[in-house]
Amino acid sequence: MNNFEYFAPTKVVFGKGTEKETGRLAKEFGARKVLVHYGTGSVVRSGLLDRVCDSLKEQGLPYILLGGAQPNPRLGLAREGIRICREEGVDFLLAVGGGSVLDSAKCIGYGAANEGDVWDFYCRKRKAEACLPIGCVLTIAATGSEMSDSSVITNEDGMIKRGYSSDYGRCRFAVMNPELTYTLPDWQTMSGCTDILMHTMERYFTKTPDTMLMDGMSEALMRTVIQNAKILHENPTDYDARAQVMWAGSLAHNGLLGCGNETDWASHQLEHELSGMFDVTHGAGLAAVWPSWARYVLSEKPARFAQFAVNVMGVTGDCTDPVKTALEGIREMERFFHEIGMPVNIHELGYDLTDEQIKELAYKCSFFGTRTIGGFKVLDQEDMVRIYEAAR
Ligand code: NZQ
Ligand code: ZN
Repeated sequence: MNNFEYFAPTKVVFGKGTEKETGRLAKEFGARKVLVHYGTGSVVRSGLLDRVCDSLKEQGLPYILLGGAQPNPRLGLAREGIRICREEGVDFLLAVGGGSVLDSAKCIGYGAANEGDVWDFYCRKRKAEACLPIGCVLTIAATGSEMSDSSVITNEDGMIKRGYSSDYGRCRFAVMNPELTYTLPDWQTMSGCTDILMHTMERYFTKTPDTMLMDGMSEALMRTVIQNAKILHENPTDYDARAQVMWAGSLAHNGLLGCGNETDWASHQLEHELSGMFDVTHGAGLAAVWPSWARYVLSEKPARFAQFAVNVMGVTGDCTDPVKTALEGIREMERFFHEIGMPVNIHELGYDLTDEQIKELAYKCSFFGTRTIGGFKVLDQEDMVRIYEAAR
């Protein structure tokens, strides 16, 4: 096991009716003037926004509303939020929605609490030294942004999607009522389940030896998400399945499952370029890329993929042939993706890539030829081209 730091400071308030606690929690964490940030309308239609605002009023907390954060949230709206925070003296951000709203709020928080252009952080020119405090009411189980240190923003100038990670941006509190996710379209629920699995797999596919505890926890989490995704595909209002998946989403991406492991993240980097270029749903984009990544890197450590096949996908192992077992595990994962309506390649995602587009995706993913990606197998720009080609 490698050395590690683990920091997960978010207070989680989980269960039915918990959104009524939002005002109390904001006050507990020092809010005096709140920017309530939300998406493109679901929280208005469901009445959640009104309930959350009522709870702020009950605590006597003044607030300003800023809606419009779209999936794959844009820098332009975050800049608008930064301006409002500065002009209005906002000292607390409340994100009501999914990962996109949360990430947009984190970007606003960095921009409002630091001098200069917030995009500098996302293109790695400098590091943030603060962030406005953030709380959230989560409406989709997916990104884990409610407990993660990351935010991912798309700059409309060039449609470049970049992530920035810092402990300053971690939420002070996360309100999680699984009932709030009942209204999600099936596609979003299943994309969310895929993202949760992928956050676990990016940490699980490691070459670090002696990871028994992390392996066991990760495998249990993945089996839980697979089983409950199938239930939710049939019955979206199954509370227990919603609850299992929601808590799994936070645990998959709060850093816990990577403690002591070298992590990978290549599939995420490859997907971010796809959603930057085509605005695809993040989880579905991951499903379209992962099988090709898996087959490309498998030979680095077939035993790892064989362990995944047996312990997660329920494949009957063949001790004499780990590669055969490993390949069967990848095929099982593809069968599962199809069962829940996810694509297993980019064509099924709805795009037929040209050679030029593949070159552009790889060029952007390599940060214009300046970086490699991946930990399980280090991938250069040429490897990225090959994986996109295999995935198309
Ligand atoms: O905009 P609204 O109207 O709210 O609709 C949203 C949106 O259309 C809708 N939705 C959310 N909750 C709903 C609902 N519709 C009905 N009922 C509800 N309860 O679902 C759609 C997707 O929402 P979004 O927030 O985009 O989904 P998600 O949570 O999957 O976030 C995706 C973004 O997060 C980034 C992704 O790249 C993508 O930009 N990620 C963030 C990470 C992080 N911060 O740690 C890690 C991830 O790997 C990921 O990269
Ligand atoms: Zn993700």
